[in-house]
Amino acid sequence: MMKQETVQIECVINGIKMALEIPALVTALQVIRDVLGLKGAKEGCGIGECGACTIVVDGKAVNSCLLLGAQLHGTEVITVEGLATDKELHLLQEKFIAHNAVQCGFCTPGLLMSAYALLEQNPHPGRDEISKAVAGNLCRCTGYQQIITSIEAAVSSGAGGEERR
Ligand code: FES
Ligand code: FES
Repeated sequence: MMKQETVQIECVINGIKMALEIPALVTALQVIRDVLGLKGAKEGCGIGECGACTIVVDGKAVNSCLLLGAQLHGTEVITVEGLATDKELHLLQEKFIAHNAVQCGFCTPGLLMSAYALLEQNPHPGRDEISKAVAGNLCRCTGYQQIITSIEAAVSSGAGGEERR
């Protein structure tokens, strides 16, 4: 059997500096889930259509199923596991719960990360900007209104400007 080529990468994941040896052809999603064991990001479609695999790389929401793991080299990554602190949930997470934006939950980590990236770039987005930012995240359960309302509520509570990540 042919030996699988590997590559070395260094990146910061949820604030922790990591040096990893990974198979050359795996996706960033496979690195996050299978190498690091962070199971929040989900594989829905695997082809960039559903947003379930969304993570934040250097401040931008990306579909990690479309990114090679090797492309994480030199980047700063935040996954849904990096949102809450030991003591408290992120305001986005609190508001998703408060406004019933989580039903089966499969889409939730991706939506939270798209919303998080939006607030990093624009701390006070309006409803239209929120809708646009999460347009690439499909949800089969909620009908989207609760999700957008939750993000609006997090913005009103200061999620864009506050210190909690
Ligand atoms: S699994 Fe990546 S966009 Fe669907
Ligand atoms: S809550 Fe089920 S897919 Fe969104």
